[in-house]
Amino acid sequence: MKLISANWKMNMTPTQTRDYITKFLPLVKDVKDREILLCVPYTSLCVAYDLLKDTHIKLGAQNVYYEPKGAFTGEISVAMLKDLGVSYVIVGHSERRWIFGERDETINRKLLACLDGGLRPILCVGERLEEREAGLTFKVVETQIRLALSSLEDHTDMIDIAYEPVWAIGSGNPATPEDAQIVHKFIKDLLKSINKNYQGKTRVLYGGSVNPQNAGEFMKMPDIDGLLVGTASLDPEAFAKIVNSF
Ligand code: PGA
Repeated sequence: MKLISANWKMNMTPTQTRDYITKFLPLVKDVKDREILLCVPYTSLCVAYDLLKDTHIKLGAQNVYYEPKGAFTGEISVAMLKDLGVSYVIVGHSERRWIFGERDETINRKLLACLDGGLRPILCVGERLEEREAGLTFKVVETQIRLALSSLEDHTDMIDIAYEPVWAIGSGNPATPEDAQIVHKFIKDLLKSINKNYQGKTRVLYGGSVNPQNAGEFMKMPDIDGLLVGTASLDPEAFAKIVNSF
């Protein structure tokens, strides 16, 4: 099933979360043929869970730590998220990589912890502008995926991947659907080559300046299996339009 996910980033208080979900639910109540996911801040998980638990909308987190428990001030474990009804978590978002210095090795350990704990990760990959201009898009994406999946090659069906070119995120300047399609196809071919038993269950989402006007064009592409939406997901009406755009 296609997956349309909101990534609220560091936005929305618990009170705002309640208002948002109350407005959003009626707008998507009849949409059953695609998966809808809200990746909210940790502090909104409780209120979001209460409002979503009897609905078809899934709850996601935006980050997780790989250790199961212990002296890791400020971190949150897989078990803590699972206990709050979380089923997905974003791992390796470019903001975590480039603002918080998250390395491929850390991302790999986080994926391992998610798979061990039964949480479905959405691994984010994508090139920066200078890498794109230097013709390095495929090399960067391949390296990020290979390192993130190191020793997990047989489990690629248990993760989803978001291709998010860094230059397209929050810039109002999305990739063209055709350019994104080429990278998505490349990612799927790569997964097939690293996992001989691959069953094609990984959805490859596009992210980067998706809005209600362009969402449908991305979803027409054969290898775009969903969307990861930041800015436009902060407005429940705009996000509902994106969900209903194809
Ligand atoms: P954007 O963010 O939709 O604001 O470009 C997407 C993301 O970072 O996941």
